[in-house]
Amino acid sequence: MDDPSGLRRAVNDWSANQYLKFEDERTRPPRDLLAHVPLDKPKRVVDLGCGPGNSTELLIERFPNAEVVGVDTSPDMLRQARERLPDRTFVESDLSVWMPEGETNLLFGNAVFQWVPDHPKVLARLLQALPSAGVLAVQMPDNTKEPALVLMEKVAASGPWSTTLGQANAARNDLPRPEDYYDLLRPLCSRIKIWHTHYNHIIENHAGVVEWFKGSGLRPFLAPLGPEMREAFVSKYTDEIRLAYPVRSDGRVMLKFPRLFILAVR
Ligand SMILES: C[S@@+](CC[C@H](N)C(=O)[O-])C[C@H]1O[C@@H](n2cnc3c(N)ncnc32)[C@H](O)[C@@H]1O
Repeated sequence: MDDPSGLRRAVNDWSANQYLKFEDERTRPPRDLLAHVPLDKPKRVVDLGCGPGNSTELLIERFPNAEVVGVDTSPDMLRQARERLPDRTFVESDLSVWMPEGETNLLFGNAVFQWVPDHPKVLARLLQALPSAGVLAVQMPDNTKEPALVLMEKVAASGPWSTTLGQANAARNDLPRPEDYYDLLRPLCSRIKIWHTHYNHIIENHAGVVEWFKGSGLRPFLAPLGPEMREAFVSKYTDEIRLAYPVRSDGRVMLKFPRLFILAVR
């Protein structure tokens, strides 16, 4: 792919269908996050990085009388979200610069801020935009040290794609420590909780693990490559995943997935 703006679009856009292959498992963390939100009747709720609308749907179920709005950068995700929830508003905007309109009581960001550059600053800005008792609820994968992510970088560094991928800056940065989020956000809110949950997702087989990450962490590694290189990359990565994740007693694979949760009340 040698059209730089086409490349940028491919890297920034997401495939809603690929992401939704594991909808049940992917929707567990937002359910858990939402269970901690201490609000009864918020008037306005925004799903930040709403994706295909799976997390938005949870917000509507919990707060049926609220105005629930979704924000995302990906046209494909937004198209799917609008099809799924046609009577709701979905806005194309980048969270790096987006600000809530009017009085918004809940800003809910599930599995999005890890993709937003300099996201701690963005979280601080959004928290300050909330009214008193407004809630910022965030979940991010904290899995950069897990084999599945480490192996993406290993494969990226060792094939004919290494120069292209080196320039693409495809690997995700480690998250800051919980202490760092605490020190930054604590002065801006009345209450804050920060915790980790390690999910153990059961995936059918090794190819399934690769499919999972094609919908998220592998995207920036695959998007810059042409079809043949992409196939070779996936094949090499699958071999590595097979070695790193032994099958369990029923032939399935257990994918350990640590996630960081932050819940701050203004
Ligand atoms: C992993 S999906 C999460 C979808 C959904 N919230 C869920 O709980 O499953 C991440 C979403 O964040 C969006 N995203 C990534 N960077 C973004 C940004 N800077 N501003 C807004 N959305 C962004 C992506 O387009 C994608 O739809």
